[in-house]
Amino acid sequence: MADTVNRGFVVWFTGLPSSGKSTLAGLLAQELPLRGLPVEILDGDEVRQRLTKGLGFSKEDRDENIRRIAFVAKLLSRNNVCAITAAISPYRSVRDEARRDMGRFVEVYVKCPLETCIARDVKGLYRRALAGEIQNFTGISDPYEEPLNPEVVVETDQESTEASLGRIVRRLDELGYLTLGQPQETTHVPIPTYLVQKIKTRLDGDSRKNPSTYVVEVLSGLLGEEQPVTMTGERKALIEARLKALGYLE
Ligand code: ADX
Repeated sequence: MADTVNRGFVVWFTGLPSSGKSTLAGLLAQELPLRGLPVEILDGDEVRQRLTKGLGFSKEDRDENIRRIAFVAKLLSRNNVCAITAAISPYRSVRDEARRDMGRFVEVYVKCPLETCIARDVKGLYRRALAGEIQNFTGISDPYEEPLNPEVVVETDQESTEASLGRIVRRLDELGYLTLGQPQETTHVPIPTYLVQKIKTRLDGDSRKNPSTYVVEVLSGLLGEEQPVTMTGERKALIEARLKALGYLE
């Protein structure tokens, strides 16, 4: 019988500008396919160029932006896709509306003090907002309403992105969203920092990979296990060459 269980869900990131939503959404989008979950990201900046082009930053327009994102996320999630959204989504009521409308909804509050976000100012917009060049800028001249009961809170000024990502993945696992059909328990094995640094250097420029994905691929290859991800012959040859260079393979 065909698998009729829907594995889709929505991961809804919310937080101030420059809090780290897009970064974490991108990392999560690399992690979930390893567990057999197809992923789509709906990122505020990109969505506003297309699906919600023309909308501004009044409360009405922001709510409309969120409703459209939620609509697409719902369509995706009910078709087995993990929909990851990364919009400021500053208003609690419309976030809760999205939650009510969806079965499997995981709200991730990307918490970061305003001063730190201002210091990061990834796009230089805080500076312009503080200079009065941008009106209704979230955190400066427009409100941000913190979630009251999010499934996950990550504190991006207190922990590394890897730690935040780990917390999100563990929570998804606890909620039972990662195990259905194909249980994939994980365990934590200490790897010396210098090796992790080396792996990161090697992966520089390969945006599809993070160190844990890479280690899983290498170990699976070494142990002759079925690959957790589809690996092309070309990729396999590349990994074998890397292992030879490291002296692990004859
Ligand atoms: S939301 O409030 O409707 O959820 P969304 O995440 O889609 O916002 O878009 C936010 C992005 O728009 C910011 O990352 C920033 O690049 C840009 N932006 C431009 N003007 C503003 C503003 N007044 N407030 C917040 N973000 C703005």
